Amino acid sequence: MSNNYKPFEDEKKIVTDFKDRMTYTDYLHLNEVLDCQKPLTDEHDEMLFITVHHVSELWMKQILHEIKSATVDIHNGRLPESFKKLARVSQVQNQLKNVWDVLATLTPADYLQFRDQLGNSSGFQSYQNRLLEFYFGYKTPHILKIYAHDEKILTMLQEAYNAPSLYDEAIRTLAKRGFAIDEEILNRDITAKYEANDSVKEAWKAVYREPEKYFDLYELAEELVDIEDLFQQWRFRHMKTVERIIGFKMGTGGSGGVSYLKKVLDQYFFPELWQLRTEL
Ligand code: HEM
Repeated sequence: MSNNYKPFEDEKKIVTDFKDRMTYTDYLHLNEVLDCQKPLTDEHDEMLFITVHHVSELWMKQILHEIKSATVDIHNGRLPESFKKLARVSQVQNQLKNVWDVLATLTPADYLQFRDQLGNSSGFQSYQNRLLEFYFGYKTPHILKIYAHDEKILTMLQEAYNAPSLYDEAIRTLAKRGFAIDEEILNRDITAKYEANDSVKEAWKAVYREPEKYFDLYELAEELVDIEDLFQQWRFRHMKTVERIIGFKMGTGGSGGVSYLKKVLDQYFFPELWQLRTEL
């Protein structure tokens, strides 16, 4: 077989001898990454189900990377550095939200072909999603039980559970800037789920009333609202996609399914930033 293809000038310069050089595949550990999509059945659509989960978990990993670093920035008073990372988080969340468009091509009939094979595994057990919730300040101790048998994951979850959240650091920043924040909030048990507080609401309200004077705090607040807004949009698309695929059946994780997913739509990470809007 003869091939008459003639490489153009730039193509001729491309490196092809990788005996002693690192390839793209080596650098990215692509074989390991691409070897992880292992359907349990021969059903065509199971691959999509796995890929969408893997893509989502990779994006969550990136968000965690940014949030942890942004929280340290805020702690150290480096707000502009944190803004760059928080803005990136929102862009990644947009990608995460868009995976539902792909998954919505999975019909109830497609999913039923392999759903029984999933046993009790469910996104409910996504520890990266829980790490995110913990780093946002939503601390739920019952989640730790799920990983009591896995020391590595439990250690990661406990670290996030015991750390001041992104929102704790934002509130401490308000206090450092001279806003009167209640002592019980500044010295609060950071392993408890954050509950809305009037002194925090009043401080944010003052920021929103004079944005030019407190521009960096105003920007911080809006970045946090972007993140919570997109988190809720993700939750809503999840809930609707689940309804589209399994209706009102119970979840594989044991919850009521859509009824549970509707309930979590009522959760807030940064409650005062939403409350103040009614009162401005
Ligand atoms: C056919 C696709 C899917 C169905 C039918 C589904 C269904 C459910 C259901 C019913 C729950 C409630 C817990 C339970 O009883 O299982 C749940 C929770 C959850 N799922 Fe999905 N899911 C799907 C895809 C995904 C994907 C792609 C992700 C991305 C990682 C995901 C992440 C989560 C998370 C993080 C929770 C916990 C939500 C919370 O507690 O706030 N799910 N899912």
